[in-house]
Amino acid sequence: DLQIIKTPKELNDWAKKNKVNGKTIGLVPTMGYLHEGHKSLIQKSSSQNDLTVVSVFVNPAQFGENEDLDSYPRDLERDKTAAEEAGADIIFHPSAADMYPESYGTYVSVDSDITKILCGKSRPIHFRGVTTVVAKLFNITMADRAYFGQKDAQQLAVILRMVSDLNMNIEIVPCPIVRESDGLAMSSRNTYLSSEERKQALVLSKSLKKAEEAINNGEKDLKTIKDGIRKIISEAPLADIEYIEAYTFPGLSECGSIISEKTLIALAVRFGSTRLIDNIIADPK
Ligand code: PAJ
Repeated sequence: DLQIIKTPKELNDWAKKNKVNGKTIGLVPTMGYLHEGHKSLIQKSSSQNDLTVVSVFVNPAQFGENEDLDSYPRDLERDKTAAEEAGADIIFHPSAADMYPESYGTYVSVDSDITKILCGKSRPIHFRGVTTVVAKLFNITMADRAYFGQKDAQQLAVILRMVSDLNMNIEIVPCPIVRESDGLAMSSRNTYLSSEERKQALVLSKSLKKAEEAINNGEKDLKTIKDGIRKIISEAPLADIEYIEAYTFPGLSECGSIISEKTLIALAVRFGSTRLIDNIIADPK
């Protein structure tokens, strides 16, 4: 039966007890409002570990001043059902005061260009907040494996770098993007979209699918690929493009004008005040 644990101390006691008994622990960090994308991570974890912890915590440290911390959707009752269905054993749902008490003063930050490009440009403190809370969750849960979606490809790359740089004893398991039947990448933030914005948001997945097809047909010229994406997105009058960019994956180094290795093609597009991201990881042959 699914158990809700609210404090870091209680979860750490639970973890220690289970580790001593030889159990493996999988962690799925989330901000809640769970959808099929989250559920696919939970399912993967429960297939690979004896026990699965899903954290549900809207992490204040990763939101900028003018971002959606207060309006971020929350529904713990629904999350309990979704997590249990997908095979979770524990939901960890701490308060902000338990995670960041009055005296709090330690941050983990990947101090490299990989946190300054792509989403890091418009969200300068975001990844520092993510790596800090994820490092805390790794310590609290003593997890053997942690599951991250490719939906947030830069986040995945930053976590891989943190784990490598800090010699963290945990396996990071990347998971594919789960999409709505019409192609829109699932996101808790999709609930912000008006019905017209929701319709037009299809240009994101449509443009990336076309790019992927072109690459599979031998297209390697980055400018041609990006122009093709931009053209399709521009067909949506409500779309305001923040970036369409490509980097090697998972290293996130500059990629030349001809793509030759595993390449992340990522985009961020605003519809009104809602910012959507999507990507593909292309592997040219
Ligand atoms: P959140 O946006 O809730 O996402 C939790 C996890 O679910 C992330 O690893 C994300 O990549 C994955 N995910 C979201 N949508 C997905 C989809 N459509 N397909 C596959 N996976 C998907 O990412 C965060 O929370 C936070 O930054 C967090 C890591 C929890 C730190 O606070």
